[in-house]
Amino acid sequence: MIMSPKILFKHCYGKYAIAAVNVFTMEQIHGLFSAAEYSDTPVIVQITPAARNYAQAQMLFGMVEAAVKIYPKTVFALHLDHGTEEHIFDAINNKYTSVMIDASHDDFETNIKRTKAVVNKAHPKKIVVEAELGVLSGVEDDMNIDSSKAFYTNPRQAIEFVERTKCDSLAVAVGTSHGAYKFSGGKGLQLHILKEIQEQLPGYPLVLHGSSSVNKNDVAEINFYGGKLAENASGVTDEELKQAIGYGICKVNIATDIRLLWTKVHRKFFTEQPELFDPVVPGKEYMKACKELLINKFEVLGAAGKASLMI
Ligand code: 13P
Repeated sequence: MIMSPKILFKHCYGKYAIAAVNVFTMEQIHGLFSAAEYSDTPVIVQITPAARNYAQAQMLFGMVEAAVKIYPKTVFALHLDHGTEEHIFDAINNKYTSVMIDASHDDFETNIKRTKAVVNKAHPKKIVVEAELGVLSGVEDDMNIDSSKAFYTNPRQAIEFVERTKCDSLAVAVGTSHGAYKFSGGKGLQLHILKEIQEQLPGYPLVLHGSSSVNKNDVAEINFYGGKLAENASGVTDEELKQAIGYGICKVNIATDIRLLWTKVHRKFFTEQPELFDPVVPGKEYMKACKELLINKFEVLGAAGKASLMI
């Protein structure tokens, strides 16, 4: 059943968080929906402009519609992640429950202006809007933000931003970054800043981008099978995620973990069985591994068993 994130956040605030998983492929959509149905977990299906450029919006939408039929008990929202106005206005007219306007790289006033314009178009159609304040570093799809350009969310600006834009949730920059190279400098999640933001915006849903845990064993295995990923980085720990929920994080964005998993499964598979060439065989393995990873993530976020309570 498709549901607005507004309802999901009302249920989960302060108690658990909803995993928002970026999907590009059929295998990832199967992995996500099968995990959500199996563990009775509400989820957010996230589609980025890069995913739409890769698979085409209609193809992704068709796969999500099919997944709803294959996994009918799933409770989910359909969200456009890191949208620009061009994609947002299309998504608003195409059954998405929510969109993110990412104007975080603009100055404060421009961010407000662009976010407000999106809110004004989305709200009359009952579509909720996530905005971002503060800048995350890292690599995601077509974005590559150098760490020198990243800065934390200013808690006092957060309240002004939300009041003036009327956005429905706010992505905050509190030390995470996109991609596989988080916390290379060893700083980690800045929970004291998150706490200050929550004090300014009590009860208001906050979003954590860059939430993958970047499993060190997965990275080591990828490198063992020929990969060349830096091994000094680490992601957000389970403990940090649990603490963040207490400070108002309702939505936890995950893309890198299922990408690393794809790389691990396929590198290992084709290295060990170089005579094979059928994508279906490792594809099945990947779907199963994706399902397992996400079931575990839902448990960490405390969201397992909560979907049926919403219907
Ligand atoms: P990760 O790169 O940590 O998976 O974060 C994804 C994300 O924030 C998508 O918007």
